[in-house]
Amino acid sequence: MTDNTILIFDTTLRDGEQSPGCSMNLEEKLQVAAQLETLGVDIIEAGFAIASQGDFEAVSEVSRQCQRATVASLARAAIADIERAWEAVRHARAPRIHTFIATSPLHMRVKLNKTPEEVIEAIERTVRHARNLCPDVEWSAEDATRTESDFLARAIETAIRAGARTINLPDTVGYATPETYGALFRDMIARVPNADQAIFSTHCHNDLGLGVANTLAAVMGGARQVESTINGIGERAGNAAVEEIAMALKVRGDVMPFRTNVVSTEITRASRLVSGITGFQVQPNKAIVGANAFAHESGIHQDGMIKDSSTYEIMTPESVGVATSSLVMGKHSGRAAFKAKLIELGYDLGDNAFQDAFVRFKALADAKKAVFDEDIVALVDDEVLRGHDSIKVKEVEIYCGTGPARAILTLEVDGAEHVAATRGSGPVDALFAAIRQIVPHDRSVLERYEVHAVTGGTDAQAEVSVLLAEDGRTTRGRGASHDTMVASARAYVNALNKLMVKRGKQPVGNAIAG
Ligand code: KIV
Ligand code: ZN
Repeated sequence: MTDNTILIFDTTLRDGEQSPGCSMNLEEKLQVAAQLETLGVDIIEAGFAIASQGDFEAVSEVSRQCQRATVASLARAAIADIERAWEAVRHARAPRIHTFIATSPLHMRVKLNKTPEEVIEAIERTVRHARNLCPDVEWSAEDATRTESDFLARAIETAIRAGARTINLPDTVGYATPETYGALFRDMIARVPNADQAIFSTHCHNDLGLGVANTLAAVMGGARQVESTINGIGERAGNAAVEEIAMALKVRGDVMPFRTNVVSTEITRASRLVSGITGFQVQPNKAIVGANAFAHESGIHQDGMIKDSSTYEIMTPESVGVATSSLVMGKHSGRAAFKAKLIELGYDLGDNAFQDAFVRFKALADAKKAVFDEDIVALVDDEVLRGHDSIKVKEVEIYCGTGPARAILTLEVDGAEHVAATRGSGPVDALFAAIRQIVPHDRSVLERYEVHAVTGGTDAQAEVSVLLAEDGRTTRGRGASHDTMVASARAYVNALNKLMVKRGKQPVGNAIAG
């Protein structure tokens, strides 16, 4: 690693997953981790191993799966936390324990009920313990930006002496400004006597919308690791967004002479995967990955773009992985062309998954005039997603208009078909009532239902995302189809499958009606 390489520490699976309604199951976390590796992030924070059995399993499995990236687990400054983190990450080729304790007067007093001396003692003891287990230890000073600077310098020196290799100074509450945050790094790196034995890291929250600006200021101040999430998901207003940091460093190398290992052409795929899995849609005007990030509406801009795209584009859509060959496939495309297109889009499906995807592609090409890359991505993601579902949507019939709507639905539940005919105030209401009739789940509530068009045009595919809540647990489902009602049924049933897994129950037996 050269001195101008900025390490990317991705915390989508930990801080990102902590945002309300963003939880992912094991399979989804593994999918995201695989894409993060393809994207080229250096460190993946896979979870908080002691938080739950699910988190522990996710960290362990991500550790086993990762081929290249370092895998970290978060741990509080407690021996039990650190040992649990180690148990999970020890399977990784390059494991890391990331331990933290709050250092601001407010947090030490109100949250930890500890004196500053007790916090210094805890840092020394817990970092040393972590280092005895794992060669790579990161220590974070939670609420660093509201910490008194002499105390912060002492805490950092203690952590490095105890064996921490990375020192993270989080702006936990998104309070910093670029000037103050950059100065914090300059000051600590200059003043802590053993600072040269560690890499300094940024971790910014976006409460004032300054997460990325603060991150870049810290890099200019000497930080060589940045902590961030895909699409900027995370607690409250979120974390600094990986894609924005990576592209800012790439595009403005003239004023920020740094490089990252991010493969920028994988950014769009990573963004889509995370928004699809979490159901958190990316706002259209979001930098780098928003639907309008490369759209030019005004006549003057369009005229400039036709003459020379650099008039209004500081980076190309291709550089972040936006497909340029819009119209790609049609109903005459055969297996070989479809396979070639999948490879071009980065998919390597097994024989059965390929066959299922091809059948759906043909149906889509029959129903839709033009099949775009985005359509194929939505279709294949949808197919891969429901691979292990034990409840499947077989047929959907909807009658709707000015009167009450009716739905006739066929579901396959563990291989057996069940049919329900229901009415509702509208087609979605009738359809979801049919699902509830076949698989009763009275305690759960539909908390969110969102529809999004994959491309433009009235024949666009719909991507639907739903959130089901039951006894404090939430599950998210998604589905895609050129028919909005079929996509809705798929999304709801996808969430229901996950709910069954969470309950630890099979959906068969006397729970099934119809
Ligand atoms: O925001 C924060 O302070 C954190 C730490 C636990 C690193 O997420
Ligand atoms: Zn955080």
